[in-house]
Amino acid sequence: MEWITTETYAEMSRKAANLFAATVILKPNAVLGLATGSTPIGTYDRLVEMYKAGDVDFSRVRTVNLDEYCGLDPANDQSYRWFMNHHLFHRINIEPSNTYVPNGLLEPERACAEYDQTIERLGGVDIQLLGIGLNGHIGFNEPHDSFDLGTHVIKLSDSTRAANARFFASIDEVPKAAITVGMRTIMQAKRIVLVANGPQKYEIVKRAFEGEVTPAVPASILQLHPNITVIYSKE
Ligand code: F6R
Repeated sequence: MEWITTETYAEMSRKAANLFAATVILKPNAVLGLATGSTPIGTYDRLVEMYKAGDVDFSRVRTVNLDEYCGLDPANDQSYRWFMNHHLFHRINIEPSNTYVPNGLLEPERACAEYDQTIERLGGVDIQLLGIGLNGHIGFNEPHDSFDLGTHVIKLSDSTRAANARFFASIDEVPKAAITVGMRTIMQAKRIVLVANGPQKYEIVKRAFEGEVTPAVPASILQLHPNITVIYSKE
């Protein structure tokens, strides 16, 4: 495991974006595993800057996102599809049909099965970007008594709903379930880059990477990945 500490959010974002840009330069049709949330926004901004400077070409890139709320229309500005379009896809030259986000409107069992097949058909993820929740969740893999492997539907914990309520008019509007890829898909990525920032994330990042490997802290299994870079920013 490679651990990088930065002083600023901008520096963390730049380092993470560099790893993704390098992957695309070396493999123009790379499969990028992407995440939503506040943490990766700076990484996406930096990738957009590199695209605009002519340094990275996304025309053959494929992307696979980690998760989506159940029941939200992709056009809803709280859906993860909307988030990705807004922060990245509409700002670079990626083919919309090459971007995959679980479909929150499909019957959930079908959406999960189709998503696993899609990832397999693409040949797996070359580089996976991850954030981490305050309870150690990855994607929407919440603390549990076992690691969930494939793409599945998850009932969101109260703490995750409360943390995400800031994006909704009220906590009652935060969906109660989500579709998330499982830990097998995440662990099968050839390379993983986890970004986390701020003092509030320090304890959970330490616990995930220096504590016991346990499904009670889903991110802890990442300790077993052979090619993971953790970029922690103090700010
Ligand atoms: C979302 C996702 C989540 C977030 C996590 C941290 O696709 O994968 O696991 O990474 O909830 O969110 P932020 O970055 O908002 O602190």
